[in-house]
Amino acid sequence: MRRRATACGKIILLGEHAVVYGFPAVAVPFRSLRAAAEFSEESGRFRIEAPDIGLDAALDDLPEKNPLAFCVRHTLEVLHKKIPEGRLILTSDIPVASGLGSGAAVSTAVVRVLASAAGKNLSPLEISRIVFEVERIYHGTPSGVDNTVIAFERPIFFRRGDEPEILAVGAPMHLLVADSGIRSETRDAVGGVRERRQADPERYDGLFRQIGELAEAGRRQLEAGQTESLGAAMNHCHDLLRAIEVTTPGLDRLVDSARQAGAFGAKLSGAGLGGNVIALVDPRRIPAVESALQTSGAVSVFRTSLEP
Ligand code: MEV
Repeated sequence: MRRRATACGKIILLGEHAVVYGFPAVAVPFRSLRAAAEFSEESGRFRIEAPDIGLDAALDDLPEKNPLAFCVRHTLEVLHKKIPEGRLILTSDIPVASGLGSGAAVSTAVVRVLASAAGKNLSPLEISRIVFEVERIYHGTPSGVDNTVIAFERPIFFRRGDEPEILAVGAPMHLLVADSGIRSETRDAVGGVRERRQADPERYDGLFRQIGELAEAGRRQLEAGQTESLGAAMNHCHDLLRAIEVTTPGLDRLVDSARQAGAFGAKLSGAGLGGNVIALVDPRRIPAVESALQTSGAVSVFRTSLEP
């Protein structure tokens, strides 16, 4: 018997980095890019195959802290199931280390397919909690925003330690997601911010507070369908992310080009130092902003939208 489950990527509209320190963030699912996990019951030791990263190994042969192996073991533990015989094949359209939640999406697909094979139904919150433990291996000190938005696959207002609030979108919102082509590990960006904050806590906490205020306002703008003010909040957020030193000249160039081509707002999304830039765009300006992003060095530009 073969089973398949998928999980979406994610986009942080407002609040990255500050969310690690307890301030809120607004994140939305990125449904057009997905990770998939396929589990086939076959005789023999449980194997994990992830062709994208050249992995093909028996679960028992992988180190305990290998995130994929940990994800399988931890999920089965929560499900009170023994390791079954079979093969788990993992694939993903989501570029790795690019701020779109590729690790959390693969983990979520794994949890979903193993739960389905075990005949158990896990709630989004239960899935999110399992994936959070895997995120700790990838990132050290995750806030939990990625696993939450991906497990719920709905726009969320997220604050560490609180139940996520699901947000209704007040009007269609069109986003372009532009990949800078530079890969950057979340762990490194978050670690750098932590060091700089330790050196100047007062300044950093002030910047985090302002990012948190933008997320509070942004949540209301999203719910009310106020695209222009949400775009302005994204612009302001990018400036604050520059102040905490997680932008790069390449990301700034993409953001500037989207704004000059008429986007309501643009910012880096995710941990920064590479990865993706997002632009909130009036549908009539999509071709112009898309082409400006391509001319300014984006290796790919995806279109996505949030619907009421
Ligand atoms: C990564 O997608 C977002 C960060 O805020 C880290 C986290 O929340 O764990 C940079």
